[in-house]
Amino acid sequence: MTDSNITATLTVHGETYELPVHSPTAGPDVIDIRKLYSDAGVFTYDPGFTSTASCDSTITYIDGEKGELLHRGYPIDQLAGKSHFLEVCYLLLYGELPQAKDLEQFETTITRHTMLHEQMQYFYRGFRRDAHPMAIMVGVVGAMSAFYHDSTDVSDPHQREVASHRLIAKMPTIAAWAYKYHIGQPFVYPRNDLDYASNFLRMCFAVPAEEYEVNPILSRAMDRILTLHADHEQNASTSTVRLASSSGANPFACIAAGVACLWGPAHGGANQACLEMLEEIGSVDRIPEYIDRAKDKNDPFRLMGFGHRVYKNFDPRATVMKQSADEVLELLGVENNPKLQVAKALEKQALEDPYFAEKKLFPNVDFYSGIILEAMGFPTSMFTPIFALSRTVGWVSQWKEMIADPQNKIGRPRQLYLGETTRDYVDIENR
Ligand code: SDX
Repeated sequence: MTDSNITATLTVHGETYELPVHSPTAGPDVIDIRKLYSDAGVFTYDPGFTSTASCDSTITYIDGEKGELLHRGYPIDQLAGKSHFLEVCYLLLYGELPQAKDLEQFETTITRHTMLHEQMQYFYRGFRRDAHPMAIMVGVVGAMSAFYHDSTDVSDPHQREVASHRLIAKMPTIAAWAYKYHIGQPFVYPRNDLDYASNFLRMCFAVPAEEYEVNPILSRAMDRILTLHADHEQNASTSTVRLASSSGANPFACIAAGVACLWGPAHGGANQACLEMLEEIGSVDRIPEYIDRAKDKNDPFRLMGFGHRVYKNFDPRATVMKQSADEVLELLGVENNPKLQVAKALEKQALEDPYFAEKKLFPNVDFYSGIILEAMGFPTSMFTPIFALSRTVGWVSQWKEMIADPQNKIGRPRQLYLGETTRDYVDIENR
């Protein structure tokens, strides 16, 4: 960060304090309050961290007003259109677009880490068949720390590198096997002659009874979906990974914490909730009823796939996803998909409604992704696992950045205490 020569002046309890201000390469200045409590004896208060920078980072930048998303400076629409997921993984992990030889070596490394320890199959067999795939992923990802002991020492840069590659490489296998277990079909092993997205699709949809040819339209669409979900600065699940990692916990346990956080319907679970909402709405003529419910303060219903803590303009990922939905469904011959028609009409009517305009609520990354995933043949329960397998590279990249930061220390927020002050114990006969 660049130390600007400006300071912030705070006067509290009759005392005045000058707080340093740091200027970023992009985005708002930050007021450094690290010494505030020791100097002034006060905390700041920011539930939900709406105005709080938890760290400094060089990986991803979001401009919520402009609807801009950069990964290491490259706009997401350019990466989605010109790059591919493993190249974006390299960019997020190492900071620069790779030379051809480096990319080839990285892709070979990832490809050769896609198999799981054979014993891990027994974890799956402990779950009920109707367990949600995210429940299985939380468990199996955490269990990786019981199988890959040679990459759990976070103080060893080599082990951090190996753990990073293992996580990115094995997540598609873990997610695909969660799906296969859920539907009662045999596990399909990864293949080294397939690209990342094609391997995942084949592990999900191939059966031993016949050959499976990956549809290039679907693998390109899947690769684009993975690229669009790869990282998103300090969102809830990434912040969870950073906080868990700050205690020195091993990377597999920390990524499992990220998977757990992502599952929530306010976060990565919104793609499943959005498609279920579109199914419930059912037809364009019922949209006004649901828009009215979303605006009703007494009704907990919200438009899933709409709104965002940071974006107060279009989520640039939603724009690319909408284009991809049109392309994929047309190529699959299902362009008249009723849910796509309802989604487009819902977006139009919501954006024309003053409530959504005033609150700057726009479609986010989850609004269209489910429509594509359903057209590919995935059940809604697999939408968030796919988000998790993509976001693993973001979690890992942010984790590596934090661990390598010499200023890294355990995260330990304080509180505004509103409970009882000291009082003496009362024996039960006197209560
Ligand atoms: C992701 O952080 C990230 O970067 C996340 C993510 C990533 O890539 O990691 O981008 C992925 O999680 C995308 C968001 C997916 N979630 C949903 O689509 C669920 C529906 N959206 C909302 O729950 C909500 O918009 C959030 C959770 C996304 C954001 O919530 P905030 O920032 O806490 O905003 P808020 O709840 O304070 O809402 C502000 C106002 C409120 O009204 P008032 O109290 O001011 O009158 O807008 C209203 C809200 O009631 N509002 C909505 C709404 N979202 C917000 N009203 C109707 N429908 C909605 N979807």
